[in-house]
Amino acid sequence: MNHGNMALTSHDRIRRSRLYVPGNQPEKILKAKNYSPDCIILDLEDAIPFMDKEKARVIVRNALRVVDFQGIERMVRINSSDIGLKDLEYIIPQNVHVVLVPKVESADQIKKIEITINEIKTACGREDDIFIIPIIESARGVLNALKIAESSPNIIGLTIGLEDYTLDLGVRRTKAGDESFFARSMILHAAKAVGIQALDSVHVNFTDEKSLRKSVRKSIALGFVGIGCIHPNQIIPIHEEFFPSKKEILNAKAIIQGFDLALENGKGVFEHHGKMIDVPTVDKARNIIKLANVYRSMDD
Ligand code: COA
Ligand code: MG
Repeated sequence: MNHGNMALTSHDRIRRSRLYVPGNQPEKILKAKNYSPDCIILDLEDAIPFMDKEKARVIVRNALRVVDFQGIERMVRINSSDIGLKDLEYIIPQNVHVVLVPKVESADQIKKIEITINEIKTACGREDDIFIIPIIESARGVLNALKIAESSPNIIGLTIGLEDYTLDLGVRRTKAGDESFFARSMILHAAKAVGIQALDSVHVNFTDEKSLRKSVRKSIALGFVGIGCIHPNQIIPIHEEFFPSKKEILNAKAIIQGFDLALENGKGVFEHHGKMIDVPTVDKARNIIKLANVYRSMDD
């Protein structure tokens, strides 16, 4: 195995961008790391026609063995149902970091996947954590979001597949996204309630940067900490949108300084530009500065 492939991952690492790469296209798999997404998803599910499933498994297994993804998190989206259990045999022994499980509707589905992961881990002597991200893609899945999020300590995030979800609802997927607001809010709250990451769906129109940026801003405003990508063009705009604006950074610094001054004067609350500032606002300001520093260190 290539030494670079032994890089580990961690529960809460930054996952702003997850680039999907079809598992049957080795040329795209080889290029994926050059675009510096935070995570690479080698896809065995919907990007792969049924007759190519076995070929894709072999390519993905070999890619995990020999391609140096240079520390980028290595994810694989398996198939739903028993085909997915077979996919696990190919990927679990190859230092996959995160298994994305599509079309999850119940906690039992995750438990079944986890049993198989553990059996393969034991058989191949793998001892590190293998994380799971359930993809919720139906009304039933949305209504069970909390139970799904709680179904395993290895779940590090929850995401939604909006194409399948809107198919299930029998509605159009619109730019405004009103049709998925409830579902995305449910997923977000379920994720926050169990302390894992809420990760948003992909933006399928990869030639429209303006609408991508607008939808990313909306996702961030709702509380999502990551967005799915289907094309390399989407990665830089997503990272840029996650980076706090100059105005936000200046404002956050002023709030932190103002609070320190208020404390020196024995006050826990003070006025800043006509607004009341107390502990939660100061904590939010600290988070902005912390995130800006983390993102800067990643993108430098
Ligand atoms: N991963 C890695 N590289 C990719 C890529 C991806 N997802 N999508 C495009 N590229 C590369 C292309 O190979 C091309 O490289 P080159 O300039 O060195 O030749 C470059 O980026 C520009 O690609 P472009 O010609 O604009 O796109 P395309 O016509 O090759 O592909 C898609 C368009 C949508 C088919 C392709 O982006 C894709 O397959 N995306 C992933 C789809 C997927 O996995 N869907 C399932 C999950 S929702
Ligand atoms: Mg889907």
